[in-house]
Amino acid sequence: MSSSIGENGAEFLIVANRLPVDLERLPDGTQRWKHSPGGLVSALEPFLRTRSGAWVGWPGIADAEVEAFEEDGLQLHPVALSAAEVADYYEGFSNGTLWPLYHDVVAPPAFHRHWWNAYVRVNQRFADVTAKVAAHGATVWVQDYQLQLVPAMLRELRPDLRIGFFLHIPFPPVELFMQLPWRTEIIRGLLGADLVGFHRPGGAQNFLWLARRLVGLEPSRGAVGVRTRPGVVQVGDRTVRVGAFPISIDSAGLDALARDKEVQKHAKQIREDLGNPKKILLGVDRLDYTKGIDVRLRALHELLADGRVDPADVTMIQLATPSRERVEHYKQMRGEIEQAVGRINGEFSTVGHPVVHYLHQSVDKRELTAFMSAADVMVVTPVRDGMNLVCKEYVATRYDLGGALVLSEFAGAAAELTSAFLVNPHDLDGVKNALESALTLDPAEGRRRMRALRRQVLTHDVDRWARSFLDALGTQPAI
Ligand code: ADP
Ligand code: G6P
Repeated sequence: MSSSIGENGAEFLIVANRLPVDLERLPDGTQRWKHSPGGLVSALEPFLRTRSGAWVGWPGIADAEVEAFEEDGLQLHPVALSAAEVADYYEGFSNGTLWPLYHDVVAPPAFHRHWWNAYVRVNQRFADVTAKVAAHGATVWVQDYQLQLVPAMLRELRPDLRIGFFLHIPFPPVELFMQLPWRTEIIRGLLGADLVGFHRPGGAQNFLWLARRLVGLEPSRGAVGVRTRPGVVQVGDRTVRVGAFPISIDSAGLDALARDKEVQKHAKQIREDLGNPKKILLGVDRLDYTKGIDVRLRALHELLADGRVDPADVTMIQLATPSRERVEHYKQMRGEIEQAVGRINGEFSTVGHPVVHYLHQSVDKRELTAFMSAADVMVVTPVRDGMNLVCKEYVATRYDLGGALVLSEFAGAAAELTSAFLVNPHDLDGVKNALESALTLDPAEGRRRMRALRRQVLTHDVDRWARSFLDALGTQPAI
């Protein structure tokens, strides 16, 4: 990595809480960069790498004073956070207030004024750094719930910029959003953008309603479409557009990786290592209480107890990336999941053949692709998820038209992946039935479903998502 930043600043910038790489301090005192977790980075990194852009973000650990640097043609501009800011802005307001509030209050959000104050301060720092490194007239694309005040702060500093904002998580029903003591400030912050994007039209519609109710504006009243018919709201002399842009993945890249001979060999090896079970179930998630990992374990436990699934035939692999480990709800959920895994294995495993293989680890892309290629049933059961990329990744890897997808209705992806086995994760009997149907699926029916799923995922990739957003923003970075 060298440190060469263009003199006139960057023409196209992503601003996100995290950089695409995370700084890791090793026990021996040395440091190294590793790939950052989560769907935002998975989606945006391949897109930005094909363009010469800059990325403003936090390096992932407290008190890391890192100079701007270049990595593989990408300019990275670190924003430092103190340990107190990590606790109050990141773990606190972002992940103890906004995350549960925006995910249907599935865990109770906490409202603390000192968390909010830190959120304002850190958002201002992101805006200040961005204002310094953006070229005149540049396009700045601000990402996600951690930075909702940045659009207005940045506009104040740099009215010459074209500013887009995209929310990667659900935007909540207005009744829930109204709980937030700082609701008006958040809406005003977002209105600083020229284009505010959500995954689903419902999120855009909720935002327009709030702009009327909380800020007294007169937004358009027509229905917002998917990638079409954005809502419009006049803010002083500016026009702000509000639209729906469902995010996706690098579908062709993953399809090609899945076809790689080594990856296929690895997939075979995984099956052998598991003792060649008749069926492999797979779950892949950040260890987050919104993901419904408990739901699928409960369903599997009951299917085994009912005798509808034979433990000699079926193995489940659950990969769970460690996430937000110091936040209370996460600590508690980890204990519960590990207990549920232990319970299934205690009751139904035999020596050398555990029913559930649980890895509290992140695996690299090639290995993940091999796991997906090996899995007969991919189980994705969030109680709420903005989009969920894992299910799209699974579909992209199944060029053989094998496998089956069980998918929660409460993931944004369910609106597109209608040929999956769609389930309500609150209806345990429904989840059990769907798992059983997927495990006993007739191969011809499976191929029919997978063909339809692949048609959707391969034609709607992350590039199309980014292009549709940037077209609506009225700008396209140089390719
Ligand atoms: P979220 O952004 O909430 O974590 P998504 O499903 O949208 O959920 O994106 C998760 C991303 O992280 C996907 O690209 C997925 O492949 C990756 N991922 C999740 N768990 C693991 C894991 N254990 N190892 C490697 N990658 C993972
Ligand atoms: C989700 C969020 C992202 C976040 C990611 C990982 O995808 O939408 O903004 O980066 O989860 O979470 P973390 O808290 O580790 O950044």
